[in-house]
Amino acid sequence: MFNFANLPPLSLYIHFPWCVQKCPYCDFNSHELKNTLNEKAYIDALISDLEQELPLFWGRSISSIFMGGGTPSLFSPESIDRLLSALRARLTFAPDIEITMEANPGTVEPGKFNEFNAAGINRLSIGIQSFSDEKLKSLGRIHGRKQAIRAAELAHDAGFNSFNLDLMYGLPNQSIQQAIEDIETAMALEPEHLSHYQLTIEPNTFFHHQPPVTPDDDMLWEMQQACQSNLAKHDYIQYEISAYAKESYQCQHNLNYWQFGDYLGIGAGAHGKLTHAPEQKITRSWKVKQPQDYLNKAATETRISGQKTLSREDASFEFMMNVLRLNNGFATELFQQHVGLPISTVEKALKQAEDKGWIHWDIKRIKPSETGKQFLNDLLELFIPD
Ligand SMILES: C[S@@+](CC[C@H](N)C(=O)[O-])C[C@H]1O[C@@H](n2cnc3c(N)ncnc32)[C@H](O)[C@@H]1O
Ligand code: SF4
Repeated sequence: MFNFANLPPLSLYIHFPWCVQKCPYCDFNSHELKNTLNEKAYIDALISDLEQELPLFWGRSISSIFMGGGTPSLFSPESIDRLLSALRARLTFAPDIEITMEANPGTVEPGKFNEFNAAGINRLSIGIQSFSDEKLKSLGRIHGRKQAIRAAELAHDAGFNSFNLDLMYGLPNQSIQQAIEDIETAMALEPEHLSHYQLTIEPNTFFHHQPPVTPDDDMLWEMQQACQSNLAKHDYIQYEISAYAKESYQCQHNLNYWQFGDYLGIGAGAHGKLTHAPEQKITRSWKVKQPQDYLNKAATETRISGQKTLSREDASFEFMMNVLRLNNGFATELFQQHVGLPISTVEKALKQAEDKGWIHWDIKRIKPSETGKQFLNDLLELFIPD
């Protein structure tokens, strides 16, 4: 039986499923916008979706909001303002709430970021991917180097508390030097946060059917190490496999995911995870994926495409799968707080991991070791339920 004394922090994820054009590597729930965007209908749907979930979390405050996609910055500042006003009227925002919006440099015009900021967005995350015109072209991006730099400059000056740049490495025909140049250009734009993802070829993408030539594993490793030490030299502290931040600028929303916190998910295909104190259980749920289907169903129960209650084994494994991505691991007491079970539930696997030198374990904290990070999949396998 689970035993939750207190509930974990609660975040809100809002999905915006449209983009100007679908990138050939992307397997997110994002769809090329073929007709005019009916902003009003989608914002109404989001509000209606949220309203039906309110009884599930009465009395709990929201610690962070993340508007992701897709491309939320396709929406006008007026629509985002209306959405945030509706959220404020229905939810209790934590005083230091972090509110992030993802933006694509190809959807930015001067003044727009300032208006998003005035509406209440306090953190921006820009999908740069690369600063090389040649690489951007091979990634099918709708913007070039100039627009990418311009977007970061506008974000810098728009009044946000902080902003993030997303970069990818391991790009078609990319050299180590080119990957480092992208990092250096990014750092010169002074973002407080940088996400550095290895390009992965996902099933059901154009690249899966027509794979580009990408660097081999040895080169990828060298590339990642070179970029990481360059970032470290400039005080960007790596706190997760792909996430780097200046001190105290870690993304609170993603940290809550990685610490197995709770989150509501509204919008097409959005996932949620909630701890229910009265029933002492954890559930996951997900909304219908296709944007038009979601619009049709948002006002009814049928907006929920599926849900499940986690078993003790699922909850323990999912916790480990998330927290071991963090360089600093987790405080041992967090296991009881967020999984509702004693740490002894995973003691056998933890001992095996310690024997193999994959974790450091003291009374207060458990963290992955350097080898543990390098062989993360092997480490996580130890926690897979029998
Ligand atoms: C949902 S996208 C949001 C940003 C925005 N849609 C854009 O692309 O400008 C989040 C980030 O995931 C990363 N990403 C997407 N597909 C990826 C892939 N196949 N491999 C690695 N990173 C990927 C990109 O860096 C992207 O900016
Ligand atoms: S713009 Fe972003 S979300 Fe849209 S297709 Fe490209 S990577 Fe995916």
